[in-house]
Amino acid sequence: MSTNIHRGLAGVVVDATAISTVINETNSLTYSGYAVQDLAASRTWEEVAYLLWHSDLPDATQLADFRAAEAAQRSLDRCGQELLRKLPETCHPMDVLRTAVSYLGAQDPTEDHADRTANQAKALSLFAKLPTVVALDLRRRRGQDPIPPDPTLGYVENFFHMCFGEEPPADVVRAFETTMILYAEHSFNASTFAARVITSTLSDLYSAVTGAIGALKGPLHGGANEAVMHMLVEIDDPARVEGWLDEALAAKRKIMGFGHRVYKNGDSRVPIMQAALDNLIATYADDRTRRLAEIYTRLQGAMLDRKGIHPNLDYPSALAYHLMGFDIATFTPIFVMSRITGWTAHIVEQLTANVLIRPLSVYAGPQPRPVPA
Ligand code: SDX
Repeated sequence: MSTNIHRGLAGVVVDATAISTVINETNSLTYSGYAVQDLAASRTWEEVAYLLWHSDLPDATQLADFRAAEAAQRSLDRCGQELLRKLPETCHPMDVLRTAVSYLGAQDPTEDHADRTANQAKALSLFAKLPTVVALDLRRRRGQDPIPPDPTLGYVENFFHMCFGEEPPADVVRAFETTMILYAEHSFNASTFAARVITSTLSDLYSAVTGAIGALKGPLHGGANEAVMHMLVEIDDPARVEGWLDEALAAKRKIMGFGHRVYKNGDSRVPIMQAALDNLIATYADDRTRRLAEIYTRLQGAMLDRKGIHPNLDYPSALAYHLMGFDIATFTPIFVMSRITGWTAHIVEQLTANVLIRPLSVYAGPQPRPVPA
């Protein structure tokens, strides 16, 4: 038995997956073989969600059925809405989302934890309901009544309608879809791995998703998109960027939205998100956002100059969500709305050839000794 320690499982291959991969030679991410750049350029969010669950893009009939099934399941029952409204506003929206998934799990009496068809149905139900939860929570924190889902609207238009009471322009819909498509799946990242660990014990899908939400919340993972926005606001002045960065690096602070465990020469998803962000800035930025965008650009240059470290997807996504009008604490919950597809695809895949995930550790505590009398 090897006693080599792989801290953080860095470089360790744990299992095979057919869902997605990063192709290092071309620095591209593929879902079922399709490059995300191509998907983001030509497909809707619903088509990509379908792809992640069915390993192929839908034809027109499959897409229409999928859209109809999603639109029909958006509502959260009265009891669930009351439960969420009772949660303290001091808790993070990710806690609300985690509680909502736990509640939905408690409402589902089915015991068929390993049944593929049942799990795909549960995944679709969560996919449809999470935007309703996120929008309800955003509005209650703004002191506004919830807006019920509108089944005549598409996924993205309905989400904006539930948050803001209006549908966004087509270019904002497209930018939002781009973030959803890019965030949807990324092989064995920490939250997906957490979901697979929980699934490997033959626990249920809701438990695995609840655990994954907890893993995504942390700022070293999905919570980074919120941390990026707080950081840009904290820097405040474009002229302060380099000084702020030097002080932060001297204090060994991690600069949010930079670096990645897999990509060492740049996150393959960033160029396409950057293009979407540039369009948003050109059309919608006011003086304050232009100032934040200048801080954003200078910090990216300074980080490359000082550390040779590139931004990850959370960097452009954060400013994009800000420009779309979302409150900062909603950014990571929106990541969940997207990643629910990847998580549940992995839960189903784990169950097709399940093996309990249970690594070893090297013991580093006291030698055996008698319990004092
Ligand atoms: C996501 O895995 C996925 O696929 C995740 C994700 C997904 O789609 O699921 O892409 C989503 O989680 C993106 C990452 C979001 N997190 C952040 O933006 C937080 C800031 N980033 C870092 O803390 C860091 O880069 C990590 C956590 C993302 C990766 O960490 P690693 O692989 O463990 O790398 P490391 O911390 O060991 O860093 C190696 C070196 C260190 O310097 P040295 O000690 O060797 O001199 O790079 C430095 C680090 O200090 N470094 C950073 C840095 N990132 C790496 N220094 C300052 N700021 C940073 N952001």
